Parts: sequence; C-alpha cells; structure tokens
Amino acid sequence: MPVDRPPASLKTRGRTLDHAASVYDMLAPIMTLGLEGRYRRRAIELLQLGGHERVLDIGCGTGILTRQLAMVLDGSRCDQAVGIDAAAKMIAVARRKATDLANLRFETALAEKLPYADDSFDAVVSTFFYHHIDRDLKALSLAELRRVLKPGGRAVIVDVDTPSSLFGKLCAWSGYWLFRQEEIRENIQGQLRDALTCAGFSQVQKVSHHAGHISIFYLEN
Ligand SMILES: C[S@@+](CC[C@H](N)C(=O)[O-])C[C@H]1O[C@@H](n2cnc3c(N)ncnc32)[C@H](O)[C@@H]1O
Repeated sequence: MPVDRPPASLKTRGRTLDHAASVYDMLAPIMTLGLEGRYRRRAIELLQLGGHERVLDIGCGTGILTRQLAMVLDGSRCDQAVGIDAAAKMIAVARRKATDLANLRFETALAEKLPYADDSFDAVVSTFFYHHIDRDLKALSLAELRRVLKPGGRAVIVDVDTPSSLFGKLCAWSGYWLFRQEEIRENIQGQLRDALTCAGFSQVQKVSHHAGHISIFYLEN
C-alpha cells in the first residue's frame, strides 16, 4: 500500500523554517513590528510590473507577497508569479492558499541553485530571506538571482541592514540574541550591502530605511 511521505525539504546551510510553517503568518507581524504589509506594498510599487511579466519571489515562506504579485499581473497566463523556498512545509502552506489563482506557482527550491533557465524572469523580489543565509550563500544566491533575471530586469530586496538609530540597534541585536543567528549579525555589520555591491548589478540603490534597521534595495541587471 502506498505511504504518504511528508514533503522533503532541500539541504542547505540556510536557516529553513519548516518548524515554523504552521505559525509563521501569526509570528511575522510581531517580528516586523506590524510593518510587513507596508514593506510588501513598497516592493510591489518599486517593481512596476507590467501585466504580462514574470516575477520570482526568493525565500517566499508562506507566499503572501507572491500571491499579491500574482494579483497585479494578468491572471490569464500560467506561471507568472513564482515563489520558491527550501522549506517544503512553507511551500505546502503557500500552495494550500493558492488554489484560486492560475498564474501563481510555488516550488521547493534552493536560492543558491535556482531551477530556472537564464533570463527567465522580468523581475525578482525577496523579503527577509537574506538574513537566513551566510556570506558565501548570499554571493551564490545573488549570482543565481542575476542569472535568471533578464538583462535590464529589476529586483527588490528587503532585509535587516546596518542599524541607523538606537531603536534600530535594539531591534536588530535583539533578533540576533533571540535566535543566536550569526547571519543577522552579518547583515548588521553590512555584509548584505557588500554582497549587493559586489554582485555585478548595473544599479544598486538603497531606496528607503525603516524602523532604524530594515532597508529596501532596488537593483537593475
Ligand atoms: C524569514 S522567512 C521570509 C519569508 C517571506 N519572504 C516573508 O517575507 O515573510 C525566510 C525564508 O527563507 C527560507 N530559506 C532559508 N534558506 C533558504 C535557501 N537556501 N533557499 C531558499 N529558501 C531558504 C526559509 O525556509 C524561510 O521560509
């Protein structure tokens, strides 16, 4: 008799969140001080998506942003908003919520080894993923991001950055101490910015900074 196996997550040094998949949507607003909706709206605005474009969400978690991206695109086409995450349980939650949109798709995949052809997306977005991977994986996954992004394509990254205020320092270092997460310390020390600068994009712009420790970066390939 066939046995139902739990979905397999992929092996990575990145900090995957299988264990938090069922409660992630309740925890995320606490972790982002209720600002995650604003970050998502800003990311969508910055990408300025045309109806027929194809967009990738890297480290999509439960897929809230990916779903919002699908809703601004032309709903009649397949596969237009694609979310990937290494945690199979996150993807399972995202898929359960995605049954009503034909142009939305989720896949268990690694940011450092994207299963897509060169130049296959018009835009890429990633929110709160880059503090889950170390310096080498940041470089690898940004190289992959550039590989799948068309020449001239746009990308937006939202993540923990070097704090600019006492409040920002408190938030960022609390995250580090709470989770004992070395990758958060690396972002605090500016390693995300450094990785973005070295990745070879034609444009890297920090467009805004929030709560003293979260930056939104706009990139062009
Ligand atoms: C903090 S969550 C962010 C989720 C979502 N983007 C958001 O803004 O709410 C980080 C996600 O990165 C995923 N992740 C960690 N390492 C990964 C890797 N190497 N490739 C793809 N996803 C990874 C985790 O499983 C987790 O779902």
